[in-house]
Amino acid sequence: MKSDSARRARILQRALSEGLLHPENAPLAAFLDWDRLEQNVARLHTAFPSQLNMLHAFAVKANPLVPVLSRLADLDMGAEVASAGELDAALSAGIAPARLVFDSPAKSWAELRRALHLGVALNIDNFQELERVRKIIDESGSESEVGIRINPQIGAGSIAAMSTASEHSKFGVPLRDAGMRERLVQAYLAHPWLTRAHTHVGSQGCPLPLIAEGVNELVAFADEVNARAGFAQIRTLDIGGGLPVDFTTDTPISAFDDYVAALQQGAPRLFSGDYAIVTEFGRSILAKHGFIAAHVEYTKQVGGRQIAITHAGAQVATRTVFMPQAWPLRVECFASDGTAKPVNEIAVQDVAGPCCFAGDLVARERELPLLEPGDLVALLDTGAYYASNPFHYNSLPVPPVYGVTGGDSVPVFDTVRAAS
Ligand SMILES: Cc1ncc(COP(=O)(O)O)c(C=O)c1O
Repeated sequence: MKSDSARRARILQRALSEGLLHPENAPLAAFLDWDRLEQNVARLHTAFPSQLNMLHAFAVKANPLVPVLSRLADLDMGAEVASAGELDAALSAGIAPARLVFDSPAKSWAELRRALHLGVALNIDNFQELERVRKIIDESGSESEVGIRINPQIGAGSIAAMSTASEHSKFGVPLRDAGMRERLVQAYLAHPWLTRAHTHVGSQGCPLPLIAEGVNELVAFADEVNARAGFAQIRTLDIGGGLPVDFTTDTPISAFDDYVAALQQGAPRLFSGDYAIVTEFGRSILAKHGFIAAHVEYTKQVGGRQIAITHAGAQVATRTVFMPQAWPLRVECFASDGTAKPVNEIAVQDVAGPCCFAGDLVARERELPLLEPGDLVALLDTGAYYASNPFHYNSLPVPPVYGVTGGDSVPVFDTVRAAS
């Protein structure tokens, strides 16, 4: 396989020649590699034993662009949505309501009514929401499969803000709080239409054994409900997403096999065949298959520090700018014609964005080929949670996103999102 850097250079050169990138008219654009995405999703499908009843629901928050969701639907994925906007996007992409799951800790009455009317599966977050859902179902009935999200309270991963199975997490019913497990079992026994259960241990930074531990708690809870109900009331387990992505190397296929091995080790009952399984991966589906390209507008020396001011900052790399320790990105440097910058002139540089605040840096004191005005920087592994989810600071334009096929030879582009 040709190196990924060479692949990106081919894409950039073609994009420059087609005017998709231009130092004056189009200084910022994002690219998604469809071929690589397809290979990755194929590996997801083969990672789980084929006899299991699986629905892989893409976490739409990771990339809510409708053409992306349509592609994923073509690759046999459903979708997990966490707002009315994400639900709209998934429906616009043609994903059938029965292949959708609605999460969110703050579902409004209107959102609940709509989801239950459409037959979208729900993961209820708390007992107050359960009461709302009960009222709607009593009044109008529903085809939706409904479950409750549990927080197994097994601890956090390395990024506290992304860890949802911690003692005080805002998500789900805290299973280890005094009396909660019994209260939850009773809620299931009182509402036989509760046929699912859900957990999501966290996103990025959660080691696989921790995720497996959370899933094991989920299975044990479902087994307990079913034993006490005297029949298989809970039929589907939604085990969430959160498979960490390697942001340090070019590894186009995510570690789905390792994830399944960790579950086989830490949550073996999941594979009994007693339960249908829903997953909700986001980052591990798309992060590695996208990059953001930005022109360098100016360079300067400040207090002995070399700074390149580019068009990619907090508006497309929000988490990296505000939490640089948690979300470091690789930066690759290209000359204005899209060829890789020679590595013989390396300098320690800050790579800054266009936003009007001092911390708008996507890389700090990084050793990189010396950048000059007109060069291009590529922010790698940004197919999920980056340019697809722009931050509207400074009223900066929303950058275009282009899909790419033929990255191995002659790249061909399609517009996923026009600039606006
Ligand atoms: C409930 C739920 N499911 C799935 C995901 C997707 O996580 P990831 O993109 O890490 O796979 C998230 C992320 O926040 C989430 O909150």
